[in-house]
Amino acid sequence: MITSDPFDRTLVPAGLLACDLEELADRFGTPLFVYDEDFLRARCREYVRHFGAGNVAYASKAFLCTAMARLVDQEGLNLDVATGGELAVALNAGFPPSRIVMHGNNKSDGEITAALGAGVGTVVVDSLDEIERLDRAVAHGATAPRILIRVTPGVEAHTHEFVETGTERSKFGFSIASGAALDAVRRTASSHLSVAGLHCHIGSQIYRLDSYRRATEIVVGFAVEAERVLGVTVEELDLGGGLGARYLTDDPDVPLADYAGALHGAAAGRRVTVEPGRSIAGPAAVTLYRVGTVKHVDEVGTYVAVDGGMSDNPRPVLYGAGYEAFLPRRIDEARPLEATVVGKHCEQGDVVVAGARLPEGVRAGDLLATPTTGAYGYSMASNYNRVPRPAVVFVRGGEAREVVRRETLDDLVRLDRP
Ligand code: LLP
Repeated sequence: MITSDPFDRTLVPAGLLACDLEELADRFGTPLFVYDEDFLRARCREYVRHFGAGNVAYASKAFLCTAMARLVDQEGLNLDVATGGELAVALNAGFPPSRIVMHGNNKSDGEITAALGAGVGTVVVDSLDEIERLDRAVAHGATAPRILIRVTPGVEAHTHEFVETGTERSKFGFSIASGAALDAVRRTASSHLSVAGLHCHIGSQIYRLDSYRRATEIVVGFAVEAERVLGVTVEELDLGGGLGARYLTDDPDVPLADYAGALHGAAAGRRVTVEPGRSIAGPAAVTLYRVGTVKHVDEVGTYVAVDGGMSDNPRPVLYGAGYEAFLPRRIDEARPLEATVVGKHCEQGDVVVAGARLPEGVRAGDLLATPTTGAYGYSMASNYNRVPRPAVVFVRGGEAREVVRRETLDDLVRLDRP
């Protein structure tokens, strides 16, 4: 690619290219998360088409609010929650508990009680302590959920080590290789609980289908062993989430058909379920920022500072994640300027886009957008430096509705005791 090429429009969903982002920024303020609702719905439907209704649970950690929970419900997906907080938001939105899958490597007694009390349909167990606690609760009269045992296949996912979860050193799940997984199935099957299936999540932001194939084969092999040795029936293989999203022009866009083909091909005819988060929510949104200052530093380069930063997108700081940037008003112009887009936080590491390409003459007051910010952006946002968290808007058919309001300065002290 010639570096001054215009921005690659294919990184932005059609519904957002068609709307007036400048007008949205004026109306709702910046920074602002703007989602293309039709894109979200289309992506949900595509997943259901490839895996079947009842076999897809949206991973709410990627992005959750009341409107998102309702959208996922309307599209017929199940919902993966990993904490009592995600569970509470889902239930408050009216999400049917029977279609909720409860995760967590350290579920508290309170979270277990809340999940069982609400009638959560499926619990993915991650430790022997948890199996004991669930067993006790059911022995004391709680309705038994379907139980999936989280297993670790010992497979590398070729992604950032912070989000790689299927290797032998993982804090998640029970190792197949060590025998811990078989022991966990044995303990569950001999309790008041029964084993409905196995769960395996090898990591996040993964493009390589061979990692998925390998993990699935190992899990299938283990299912066969558990059935033979313990007489259980593994009726479901939940193969987690993790499919990568396209952030940069040069990133691949892995077709869902290929991903589904890889999993089904390796699953030897067994029922496969998945838990996508990023690949549904990530590409659906852009973040809009207002440029506040442009600073040229001798021998270093140009800093373009925007009115957000690591408080609305910590991914560059946490994982060195790369993003593209564009100026909505000048989206098709050449981009000869190389700049570092930075935030307003008190850290040198507060980078929004390293090595951004921008049109010449970018200046204070310009609107700047970053694509593919729909997953793990708002959901990991903080109030660092007491910066209020942004608003979130869903756009559909040219109409925008605010689904999460912007925090106010009053919100910043609402938890403080006088
Ligand atoms: N299932 C389980 C058990 C998970 O732990 C996760 C993500 C998912 C499904 C959904 O994965 P996805 O399809 O979204 O990749 N904050 C990091 C990502 C952490 C992922 C945690 N688990 C990031 O911003 O890259």
